[in-house]
Amino acid sequence: MRLAYRRWAGIYDTVFGGVSRPARMRAVAAVNALPPGRVLEVGVGTGLALPHYRPEISVVGIDLSAEMLAKARAKVAAERLKNVEALLEMDAQALEFPDASFDSAVGMFVASVVPDARAMLAELVRVVRPGGTILFVNHFRAEGGPRWAIERAMAPFSRRLGWHPDFAESTLLAGASARVLGREPCTPFGLFTLLRLATPR
Ligand SMILES: C[S@@+](CC[C@H](N)C(=O)[O-])C[C@H]1O[C@@H](n2cnc3c(N)ncnc32)[C@H](O)[C@@H]1O
Repeated sequence: MRLAYRRWAGIYDTVFGGVSRPARMRAVAAVNALPPGRVLEVGVGTGLALPHYRPEISVVGIDLSAEMLAKARAKVAAERLKNVEALLEMDAQALEFPDASFDSAVGMFVASVVPDARAMLAELVRVVRPGGTILFVNHFRAEGGPRWAIERAMAPFSRRLGWHPDFAESTLLAGASARVLGREPCTPFGLFTLLRLATPR
């Protein structure tokens, strides 16, 4: 994945920024609707969401790719985003934060990218305070129909793509202690889903 995103970093915003924008903005709006607090953005990438958080929200972003983070840091500097507390190179599956460090966490287009999404979710449950919110916006595979066939055909290319087209929501949620609060289909064509979870109290 590090290698894939080293390659993607230079062209990511141009290739993927547009199609993913409505779903990303939906996730940011959901974060902005929460009471102000400290938010962890996992897999922050080139920082496309960072300029859109309201200034009262303190944001920590982490990503495995130094090249993606360099782009995010450039955006923070260019836009003078004072509410971005830190951008750190870190594995979402083994977070280096103490328990209950954040009020909420958000992962945009990252669940189908990390090798072990379940481990990532367990880490998010650990670092978000009890009764906090975890949001994901992601592509989850269809369970039938033409989209399912296309996703299965694309699956062998996941290494090169940098994500798993046949990633199932159940792969993320199986055994999780977080409670599902809701799911909302996002533009374009409901291809992405905003998933809201609450950490146990
Ligand atoms: C598809 S990009 C999404 C970037 C950003 N969230 C957005 O909305 O555009 C996936 C990101 O997840 C990062 N990533 C992959 N595996 C990771 C891991 N184990 N821990 C942290 N970040 C990871 C990649 O480096 C990449 O920046």
